[in-house]
Amino acid sequence: TENPPFDLQGLRDDIESLISDNLSLGPSLIRLAWHEAGSYDCFKKDGAPNSASMRFKPECAYAGNKGLEVPRKALEPLKKKYPQISYADLWVYAAYVAIEYMGGPSIPFCWGRVDAKDGSVCGPDGRLPDGSQTQDHVRSVFTRLGFTDQETVALIGAHTCGECHIKYSGYEGPWTHDKNGFDNSFFTQLLEEDWVVNPKIEKMQMMDRATTRLMMLPSDMCLILDPKYRRYVELYAKDNDRFNSDFAKAFKKLTELGTKNLRNAPAVSS
Ligand code: HEM
Ligand code: CA
Repeated sequence: TENPPFDLQGLRDDIESLISDNLSLGPSLIRLAWHEAGSYDCFKKDGAPNSASMRFKPECAYAGNKGLEVPRKALEPLKKKYPQISYADLWVYAAYVAIEYMGGPSIPFCWGRVDAKDGSVCGPDGRLPDGSQTQDHVRSVFTRLGFTDQETVALIGAHTCGECHIKYSGYEGPWTHDKNGFDNSFFTQLLEEDWVVNPKIEKMQMMDRATTRLMMLPSDMCLILDPKYRRYVELYAKDNDRFNSDFAKAFKKLTELGTKNLRNAPAVSS
């Protein structure tokens, strides 16, 4: 391990207090780190993952990144207070703290990501997954990112927290009854509820027949329709510890895509 040039404990405490003041920030920080990495192409080795390239045009204006100005702005005061941390490290660390804050796994943090200087390195639009599509599309996006079917299912389990907003994506509502908790309930809901089309939303999304309060995207539903994905949904629905540890590994891999010479930070407690 190697101490970073910023106060990790102070930073962690400050991220936790931002989230405790505004619980909806937690899930949005996870989505920010994911979309920042999700521009990668592991074959072409481009797309500037984990470089905070999303601060710049054209990437900040891609439709898939709508709403992510909220967590980016929320972290600005911490970038001012801890100027030695890169934006890229800050976004990843904030996501790790949010996951643990909500009851998810603790993910060992490595630092040393280098910020993009401008938007010239941004990947093209269209690399993030489209929620209106199903297994062929989901598999092609996650294969391009370098993930297996099992890692893909584990990662999408992040829909255990947070919600969709009409004004950002055209979809509405949370996937689970506790949108501020992080566990395997996305998978248990997916298997246990009776999912029907929600007639009130213009885009096609599903709702649970029992309460009509929960939602699933077509891209979530494909995880139980595709037999290769479904075995992992069943595994994670039965075993929360297995979900937590597989999610932690896959999310660490996601947030280290395209990086070089990262250093292990010392462990810091919440
Ligand atoms: C939210 C799509 C994979 C984490 C959303 C939203 C959409 C979406 C449409 C709603 C955005 C809004 O209206 O605010 C997808 C699709 C995926 C995918 C199509 C893959 C097929 C992932 C992955 C992660 C993730 C891999 C993280 C590891 C989240 C979180 C939210 C979210 C935490 C909630 C954000 C909030 O509450 O503000 N996703 N997603 N998603 N996504 Fe995904
Ligand atoms: Ca990027």
